[in-house]
Amino acid sequence: MLCSLTVSFLFGFAYSEKENKKADQNQKVDQCFTCHKEIDNLPKDFSENDIHRHANLSCSSCHGGDPNSDDQDVAMSPSKGFVGVPKRKDIPKFCGKCHSNINIMRVFQPRIATDQVEQYYTSVHGKKLLAGDENVAECSSCHTAHSILPAKDPRSSVYALNVPNTCNKCHGNSVLMKNYNIPVNQLEEYSKSVHGIALLKNKDISAPACNDCHGNHGATPPGLKSISHVCGTCHVSNMEYFNATRMAKAFEEQDFHGCEQCHGNHGVQKPNDEMIGVGKDSKCIDCHTEGDKGFAVSKKIYSSLTQLKNGYNAANAKYLEVRQKGMNDVEIGFQLQDAKQALIQSRTLIHTFDTTKVVAKTKEGIEFSNKASLLAQKEIDDYSTRRNGFAIATLAFLVFVIALYFKIKDKEKKTS
Ligand code: HEC
Ligand code: HEC
Ligand code: HEC
Ligand code: HEC
Ligand code: HEC
Ligand code: HEC
Ligand code: HEC
Ligand code: HEC
Ligand code: HEC
Repeated sequence: MLCSLTVSFLFGFAYSEKENKKADQNQKVDQCFTCHKEIDNLPKDFSENDIHRHANLSCSSCHGGDPNSDDQDVAMSPSKGFVGVPKRKDIPKFCGKCHSNINIMRVFQPRIATDQVEQYYTSVHGKKLLAGDENVAECSSCHTAHSILPAKDPRSSVYALNVPNTCNKCHGNSVLMKNYNIPVNQLEEYSKSVHGIALLKNKDISAPACNDCHGNHGATPPGLKSISHVCGTCHVSNMEYFNATRMAKAFEEQDFHGCEQCHGNHGVQKPNDEMIGVGKDSKCIDCHTEGDKGFAVSKKIYSSLTQLKNGYNAANAKYLEVRQKGMNDVEIGFQLQDAKQALIQSRTLIHTFDTTKVVAKTKEGIEFSNKASLLAQKEIDDYSTRRNGFAIATLAFLVFVIALYFKIKDKEKKTS
């Protein structure tokens, strides 16, 4: 009861309309909305789908004022609590009136968290807004003010597929960003990355959008000390392996950013074996030189990977031949699958930067591909034997038929 009183008080019209409706049909109308609609003065971004409108909140729930009066001067009078259009720096508090209040949010949607404002002030946006920078994002920059939808709704400005464009309104705007010493190419780079292609092209929402790495409201996603650890929230094994290495410790000390050092951040590309080793595309030779341990390890890992890859490719070519000839391919397929699995695992195990571990795995893979290769060769040989056998049999048969023909001819001649 107390709770519902608080809510009716805060939402003025909205909640009481719900209650009044039962007692007193159509006596109370949202005069704010009615008048603004009539005079064609609804906000530019207004949408009937707005979540607050769906929840029966009035214009006055956010802007204050008296929603029961059809007199403009009364309805929008400061004495009735009207606050008008909030200044940008005040918007977090403006939304936080409800979104930081667990008692209010619980009544409507207990599942919605109430920490957005608190989180927001830990972000670069929040800190700078507090310091008076009005170019940064506040709540309505990302959510809009009058067409707000839950993040799960594909039409929402913060739906995974739409987030990159929402951020890019500012981060791709070189005029707005010119006084900050940061690039404006995040979306451009991201769109060409494995993550961007997966999300934007293939609509795979398990791939990270901007907010999955940077956090929705906070500076970094929950539970992370630094954004340089963000990749490990999804690529768990890579992170575990890497963190246990001597190199990771050296990276921390020298303030290198773990995964980014080799993979980048916005432009992460599909990796290939040439990233390791000592060839010109190797990442390792950026920091390691002939004679040091990293260089030797890199060379060794590369050669064991290449050996497995070549073995696998050769076995796979034979496997395809066997299939084409319609021979028995089942067991070969199993062996090849295991070889491929070992190859994939070896590429993840690279992150231990430990030759022993990688080589143990590539050896396993090489054994599987050798087995597959042998089995395939046997099928191919059997096929040839059978084909040769068939040819000989056909020839013998032909000779027999011809002989028979002459024999019959001979007999006919004799009887005639
Ligand atoms: C009878 C018509 C009428 C009613 C009722 C009314 N408004 Fe308005 N509202 C206007 C007009 C006209 C303007 C623009 C002229 C002005 O600023 O005085 C306006 C302006 C506004 C603005 C922009 C103010 C600014 O500083 O730019 C807001 C916000 C607003 N109304 C909210 C509300 C809310 C909330 C309610 C209900 C509590 C409400 N209005 C009720 C007619 C109305
Ligand atoms: C969820 C809270 C919320 C609700 C509900 C809300 N507003 Fe707003 N409104 C804002 C915020 C925040 C701003 C300032 C940011 C902006 O302009 O995008 C704003 C700005 C405005 C402005 C000035 C800017 C413009 O686009 O013209 C008007 C007028 C206005 N609101 C009217 C209304 C009316 C009328 C309603 C009811 C139909 C309403 N608002 C409902 C939060 C709200
Ligand atoms: C830089 C952009 C950005 C800013 C600024 C921002 N949000 Fe969000 N917000 C998001 C994104 C992105 C999501 C959705 C994440 C998801 O679940 O996919 C979200 C989700 C939400 C949700 C849904 C519940 C939840 O926490 O996931 C609420 C409520 C919310 N924001 C309110 C606010 C409020 C209040 C502010 C101002 C203090 C604000 N947001 C500022 C981007 C932003
Ligand atoms: C008067 C209280 C109130 C104010 C002020 C308010 N909201 Fe809300 N908001 C709610 C309620 C209640 C809901 C849940 C509605 C529902 O799900 O039925 C909600 C839902 C949302 C959602 C959807 C959450 C989800 O994922 O389901 C977002 C996003 C959001 N609000 C953002 C904002 C922003 C941004 C502002 C400020 C511009 C704001 N709200 C101001 C009460 C408020
Ligand atoms: C309204 C414009 C605006 C929007 C929308 C916006 N930002 Fe920002 N953002 C800024 C400005 C301005 C800065 C301050 C730049 C600085 O100080 O380097 C900033 C700073 C940042 C920073 C810190 C940059 C640094 O200096 O290290 C990150 C990260 C960031 N934004 C990510 C995002 C993400 C992710 C989104 C979308 C979910 C987003 N922003 C949406 C304007 C915006
Ligand atoms: C895969 C994770 C990831 C994704 C996705 C991502 N970022 Fe970043 N972003 C990072 C990392 C890591 C940094 C570097 C932080 C550092 O070095 O301190 C960064 C840095 C930034 C910066 C600071 C300036 C700069 O370019 O270094 C901004 C602004 C930014 N990101 C915005 C965005 C926007 C906008 C998007 C979406 C188009 C996005 N990010 C997507 C991980 C990501
Ligand atoms: C929200 C989860 C998530 C985060 C955070 C994330 N990734 Fe990814 N990553 C994925 C998914 C999903 C894919 C698979 C995309 C596809 O289908 O091609 C992927 C693919 C990759 C690939 C290509 C793998 C391959 O075999 O083709 C690399 C490399 C990669 N991510 C590195 C990173 C780095 C570096 C970071 C941090 C800067 C990062 N990821 C952050 C989910 C994530
Ligand atoms: C010192 C360089 C280096 C660092 C640091 C590094 N990687 Fe890699 N990463 C590589 C190389 C080399 C490959 C293998 C390329 C190949 O052979 O295909 C690779 C492959 C990958 C792959 C694809 C193979 C797989 O495991 O699915 C992912 C995903 C990946 N790295 C994520 C990460 C993440 C996450 C981090 C941080 C914890 C990280 N990497 C740190 C060099 C690095
Ligand atoms: C950004 C620079 C950088 C890159 C790129 C880099 N390393 Fe390192 N690596 C280091 C540093 C710094 C150390 C620590 C050296 C030390 O402790 O003496 C290290 C250490 C190592 C070690 C341990 C050496 C020891 O003495 O135990 C190995 C192995 C290694 N790196 C392999 C690699 C491989 C393989 C690659 C390429 C996939 C690579 N590194 C790429 C900087 C880098």
